[in-house]
Amino acid sequence: DDKIMEKSIDPAVHQMLDRAEQLGLETVWDRYEKMLPECGFGELGVCCRNCNMGPCRISPFEDDGPQRGICGATADIIVARNLIRMIAGGAAAHSDHGRDLAHTLLLTAEGKSGGYEIKDEAKLAALAAEYGIATDQRSKEAIAEDLAKAVYAEFGKQEGPLQFTRRAPQKRVAQWQKMGIDPRGIDREIVEIMHRTHIGVDNDPVNLILQGLKASIADGWGGSMVATEISDVLFGTPMPVKSEANLGVLKEDHVNIIAHGHEPVLSEMILAAAGDPSLVANAKAAGAKGINVVGMCCTGNEIVMRHGIPLAGNFMQQELAIITGAVDAMIVDVQCIMPALGDLCECFHTRFISTSPKAKFPGAVHMQFSEESALAIAKEIVGSAVENYAHRVPEKVFIPADKTACMVGFSTEAILKALGGSLDPLLDAIKSGAVRGIAGVVGCNNPKIKHDEGHVGLVRHLIENNVLVVTTGCNAIACAKVGLMLPEAADDAGDGLKGVCKALGIPPVLHMGSCVDISRILSVCAAVANALGVDICDLPVAGAAPEWMSEKAVSIGAYVVSSGIFTVLGTVPPVLGSPVVTEVLTQAANDVVGAAFAVETDPVKAAGLMIDNIDKKRQALGI
Ligand code: SF4
Ligand code: FE2
Repeated sequence: DDKIMEKSIDPAVHQMLDRAEQLGLETVWDRYEKMLPECGFGELGVCCRNCNMGPCRISPFEDDGPQRGICGATADIIVARNLIRMIAGGAAAHSDHGRDLAHTLLLTAEGKSGGYEIKDEAKLAALAAEYGIATDQRSKEAIAEDLAKAVYAEFGKQEGPLQFTRRAPQKRVAQWQKMGIDPRGIDREIVEIMHRTHIGVDNDPVNLILQGLKASIADGWGGSMVATEISDVLFGTPMPVKSEANLGVLKEDHVNIIAHGHEPVLSEMILAAAGDPSLVANAKAAGAKGINVVGMCCTGNEIVMRHGIPLAGNFMQQELAIITGAVDAMIVDVQCIMPALGDLCECFHTRFISTSPKAKFPGAVHMQFSEESALAIAKEIVGSAVENYAHRVPEKVFIPADKTACMVGFSTEAILKALGGSLDPLLDAIKSGAVRGIAGVVGCNNPKIKHDEGHVGLVRHLIENNVLVVTTGCNAIACAKVGLMLPEAADDAGDGLKGVCKALGIPPVLHMGSCVDISRILSVCAAVANALGVDICDLPVAGAAPEWMSEKAVSIGAYVVSSGIFTVLGTVPPVLGSPVVTEVLTQAANDVVGAAFAVETDPVKAAGLMIDNIDKKRQALGI
């Protein structure tokens, strides 16, 4: 019906919501509607629970209600504190993911990990060179051990700089230093946010926001970049590969396993275990044709990029996957996993398996994962999914047919390879105007926005206007599902971009990976800026997070802007209760880091803002 059509642009979602309704099951969309109207104080960012004299909330009406918290904090102070605590949460999540990768690399180098190996020696050597680690006549394990220790140390460093921040153009680093936002240690900047936002510490909104930017830089050019680079060393740097996306990748006659969450440390081993001949034999003995592993959210992005494993869907589809009744195990680690999955799995045979000591869920079976015995545990987990196949109720199975082919795997290295080994063809295309500019479009789903419409509407408008799109996260999955990640999609692009894509055989929308892989976008921007001898804020590039919702997205937005890239948000951040914070983020940031935020909920208008910005940069560069 019409109500369902309004919730998403995805036909698979329409069918599954219809199915949920028939079965009387609740989803994120229902809970969102029950929550309306959402708390007005929360929306404005003016409620504070940072001490127990409160909670306090500031009235949005100057002549009616309190204008200060009990400690005297104004709306400006409270909003700034709340905002940077969101950045702390997001930076912590990405960086702890990076730390886990560093840990896995160290164990692997020491021969203590249970099944991992160093797959990309070229990347290992390149990173070692960046860190000044000797490589001559040394085993890959010896090099990896030094690298792991050096990278591990970035988290607890007391004094900077973080090595990867030095990939940024010199002008950028100088500006960060001038503003006092060149990060020291990754953990240190996050801790300092928690300190400064404690009652009675930092009560200057601008000073607070600067610390937020500093911690976000430690995320984007620190923790996230570590996560990306070390994942490549351990699991291989992604290269273009074909796959499929949407719920139709589930198979009625196979054991279906969904790997959902974020860290490839788990999903790589699940994949390895699913190839185990004795487990495959067990699946066949149970009457299945085989074991079908598919991915969801960023775990999905990690394994589609490296192995072409199909994508079952993005954030808003996790419950719908369970409702197909065809999922034998939903295996999760950390981040973006709805606690609602537990109750939902009880309505089906699906086994909901949590694996991280950091993330337990109601209704989940906990099978704790450890790197030391990774493959053995992964086999147990996959075995449990295979065993559960017998409990599937055929009458409850409904898998939508929808799935779309995609070409993914565009790491920086893959893009360079597609360009013939140097950035020059891309730079020439930008100079000639065939490619007007580059847009990074990323981020979550959010029920405040019609599912995937924010993403797809914006991306389509950009490519029609000759803006090459690079993407990660749930935006990437949205684009894959509508066919924008096929070389043929170049036909939907403007003439200039179309010509470039056809010549190179690439799609107009390049999948660069998971959310931590936004660090790949930063690295490309840095390389382009360095090649042109300019700063990142001079480039004809722009960023967008059309359907963002998580704290991680707040940190991402902050580090993308801190890197000098104009960024449009498609959902309104909780800052409008403070005129000062709003002004800093949308205007004054230009003077501090050479870029600022805009908020635009209409995807076509948002694309328009990005194109205007790109055109301004082109003009300033004289191209
Ligand atoms: Fe209220 Fe200040 Fe305590 Fe926040 S820190 S709850 S504004 S008294
Ligand atoms: Fe993600």
